Amino acid sequence: KGPGPVDHSAHSHGVGLPDRPLTRFTGPAGKPDKRFTLIATDAKLTLSSGTTVDAIAFNGQIPGPELRVRQGDLVEVTLVNRTADTPTTVHWHGLDVPNAEDGVAGLTQNAVPPGGSHVYRWRAEQVGTYWYHSHQASSTQVRRGLFGPLVIDPAQPGPAGVREFVVAAHVFDTDKGDTSTLNAADTLRREAVAPGTPVRIRLINADNFRKYFTLAGTPFKVTAVDGGAVNAPTDLYRTKLMLGGGGRYDLEFTMPSAPVRLTDLAAVGAGLLLSPDGQGELAPLTDGPEFDATRYGSPAATPFGPESHFDRSFDLVLDNRPGFYDGQPYYLWTINGHVSPHVPMLMVREGELVKVTISNRSFLEHPMHLHGHHVLVLSRNGHRATGSPLWLDTVTVLSGESYELAFRADNPGLWMDHCHNLQHAAMGMTMHLGYE
Ligand code: C2O
Ligand code: CU
Repeated sequence: KGPGPVDHSAHSHGVGLPDRPLTRFTGPAGKPDKRFTLIATDAKLTLSSGTTVDAIAFNGQIPGPELRVRQGDLVEVTLVNRTADTPTTVHWHGLDVPNAEDGVAGLTQNAVPPGGSHVYRWRAEQVGTYWYHSHQASSTQVRRGLFGPLVIDPAQPGPAGVREFVVAAHVFDTDKGDTSTLNAADTLRREAVAPGTPVRIRLINADNFRKYFTLAGTPFKVTAVDGGAVNAPTDLYRTKLMLGGGGRYDLEFTMPSAPVRLTDLAAVGAGLLLSPDGQGELAPLTDGPEFDATRYGSPAATPFGPESHFDRSFDLVLDNRPGFYDGQPYYLWTINGHVSPHVPMLMVREGELVKVTISNRSFLEHPMHLHGHHVLVLSRNGHRATGSPLWLDTVTVLSGESYELAFRADNPGLWMDHCHNLQHAAMGMTMHLGYE
């Protein structure tokens, strides 16, 4: 079903003067509660093992500084570009900000040239673990280091005394080839944590491909997926967690009296070792049953679900075909047989309930990321999602898989919908969502 006829009497904002305040599309006015400056510079990153990366950094560090705000805060971030020759932007991955604050070069703003700056303003509404990254030539800029963590704490502070570790997994092109890292380190990081301390690990996959993580030495709960809290998190033990590109998990446990080790199975030499004295050893856990967030917990109410009436339904078939990129033969990544910019956009009207079915016929996984909205997982491979309602901003669709997703069209603007394997996004797998 394609877009229906436009009723201009009810929706005059597409032509002439907007019938609603423009502030719906731009960030809120007023005095910010939190202010940050992100300065992009060219950098040389030297990993712990001595290998080097031709990098770009925010504020001289990779990952960029942790932006931590409280729910309800009006946040103002100034991006300053001090690179020699790299126009850039900042996108708030997973935050459903007003359209003009989304940081997409060529769509919601021009890329900020070297010497320039740009101010972003948005209200922190979604509690949880998010991240920010460049959205200009992102397949190279994010890869080189232009990303960082973003955490929104609840308006009502939770229990005191929680030790938090924010861990971003990323792969760098180094002088010795691809290197998997955690917080840009390729060696084991040790931290002392007193037994009995509540611990929260905020795990971010800032890489293109899915990663597998293990947590050895303790039972744990997955308490949030893509920033959103999940209900009835069960105790997991010796479980392998698959995290798609762009996605996040919050893991929680109580520190035992013996070491705990977080491991990215692509970088078993790296990792995070927590122990009472910051010493000790624990072998990385290298296998275990896989956690599937669509099938655990207990169902909870959602504003809409599989039985709902959908105003629009879209089918997206992901595939690959041989083609050329930069004059070289490559696989191109297609949506409904087209490569960007030739993929017809999805058109919706404000307020509509929209269903999107994504099927992956290609030979690799695609972490599909819709800007400005969160999607509810209705089913995976024909199995209805029975677990906790799962609201995602990035849905990793493995080769051969299909997902039914739903969202409410409640954030008018022009939005990107693309594969968060940023190389795939650059090589075809990018489309847009627009409001009539
Ligand atoms: Cu995290 Cu369009 O990106
Ligand atoms: Cu992809």
